[in-house]
Amino acid sequence: MADVIDRQAYPQFAALLDAIILEWPKHHKYLARNISERTPDELAFSERLSKMVAALADETPGGLQSLASDYRFISEQIILPEELHFRRHGEYRLKTFAEAVEQVYSRADYMKRYMNGLLITDVIWINHCRSMEHYSKRFLPMIRENGDLLEIGPGHGLLLALATREKRVGTLTGWDVSEGSLATARHSLAALSPGVAVTFKLRDIFAEDRTDDEGFDAIVFSEVLEHLENPEEAVRVVYRLCRPGGLVWINVPANSPAPDHLYLVRHPDEASDLLRSVGFEIVERANFAMSGTTYERAIADKLTISCVIVAKRPA
Ligand SMILES: C[S@@+](CC[C@H](N)C(=O)[O-])C[C@H]1O[C@@H](n2cnc3c(N)ncnc32)[C@H](O)[C@@H]1O
Repeated sequence: MADVIDRQAYPQFAALLDAIILEWPKHHKYLARNISERTPDELAFSERLSKMVAALADETPGGLQSLASDYRFISEQIILPEELHFRRHGEYRLKTFAEAVEQVYSRADYMKRYMNGLLITDVIWINHCRSMEHYSKRFLPMIRENGDLLEIGPGHGLLLALATREKRVGTLTGWDVSEGSLATARHSLAALSPGVAVTFKLRDIFAEDRTDDEGFDAIVFSEVLEHLENPEEAVRVVYRLCRPGGLVWINVPANSPAPDHLYLVRHPDEASDLLRSVGFEIVERANFAMSGTTYERAIADKLTISCVIVAKRPA
């Protein structure tokens, strides 16, 4: 990728791009255009994320090359068929959590590759990378000084790892319903932020065993809502968990087919309306369209947009 990126300024990002091109030469054209869409600040942030990915790759059998292979696998074998279904029917293929368990979550090897591939998308897919940048540069500095932060569904753990680098954050907690995801998040945090205390709990947010004194100043709910059958109930739970005056950072994609996506957001306004319906005030919105298009075209053509919302529980 020497032709499209300054290798000296962005060595880790260049190494990631090299690994992808080696694995998938035909992706070069897409990557070249995608890189040309990034500002110098965005390239610097991509380098920062690539460094985190490289540290995680060191802990992965097969290293960066194996992650690049999983990125190609999910693009061609997992996302593309769902994209074709979405284009033909205007809906996501699966409707229930039970179907997703049967077809996706219960397949351990497939899930491993899926999660590895998604880690790479956080750098490569421009809407993912821009969402992470918003979280790091806009949301984390808004948090109450010494605040308690909860991430629901930390998955690969990158967002929690970025939070460990923000001095305002007091305590860090991660809840996930999946033992596997929790193990991945724990492992990532140990690699990326050694020695930093994070409380991990196996926890379904719909579980009724919540104690009344639980509450957080900042809640991160990223790329989880679209996986749920009951998004309204989920945001009601998030509202209850948020202390008065506290903030949430929600990231939900619109028009983003994947085998385990159940809740289809067709327009970013729907996501804001959902949050308002349970009592949140919208503080800020940012919509990031997929690479190669504008927000307006993405809306018109029903293309993927990452809808990022900072919302506040009124004091
Ligand atoms: C796609 S990952 C999101 C990872 C990361 N937050 C991100 O933005 O990339 C979704 C995570 O949500 C978790 N999850 C799904 N339903 C949940 C529930 N009811 N309670 C807690 N976690 C849940 C999954 O196990 C998974 O780890």
